[in-house]
Amino acid sequence: MNIFSRLCKTLVVLIFLGAGSAHAQTGNDALYQSLGGKTGISTFVNSFVAIVLEDARINKAFKDTDTERLASLLTEQFCELSGGPCKYSGRSMTEAHHDMQVTNAHFNALAEDLQVAMEKHEVPSSVQNKLIAKLAPMQRSIVSK
Ligand code: HEM
Repeated sequence: MNIFSRLCKTLVVLIFLGAGSAHAQTGNDALYQSLGGKTGISTFVNSFVAIVLEDARINKAFKDTDTERLASLLTEQFCELSGGPCKYSGRSMTEAHHDMQVTNAHFNALAEDLQVAMEKHEVPSSVQNKLIAKLAPMQRSIVSK
């Protein structure tokens, strides 16, 4: 084997190892990327919070809420849930909602507002559905009435 083919083999091995470690580092962030990364998420979350505050079905619950903090925590939460490089720093869903008497109708209203916000920012419906599917299991911790 000449020096050239040895070098080629080494290069192939290095490329292979490099691709493997890049994959291990990033994990599966396909949904995060489809949502437009942190900037995309934060953009539709800001609209989402504004829509919620206008929604008479649920807005009374938010009358004393620091909505900037809420938007920032929702952005973190959606970023982490979609496989992005964030760590949600807020309270657990049970802790945050336990004394609010949230009903299934409230939960569905909020999910609808989120869809309206994503639609406004042209998030494709297949991507919207993937995020909603990640949130659906939280219903058990949030709805208490
Ligand atoms: C998928 C559904 C939901 C998600 C992902 C969600 C997520 C969150 C998050 C991340 C926070 C911040 C937690 C913290 O303060 O540490 C929060 C707070 C809050 N959520 Fe939800 N929530 C959902 C449904 C609802 C519903 C249905 C209501 C009532 C209609 C509601 C009312 C509130 C209120 C009022 C706060 C602020 C509490 C405060 O000001 O301290 N949430 N939610």
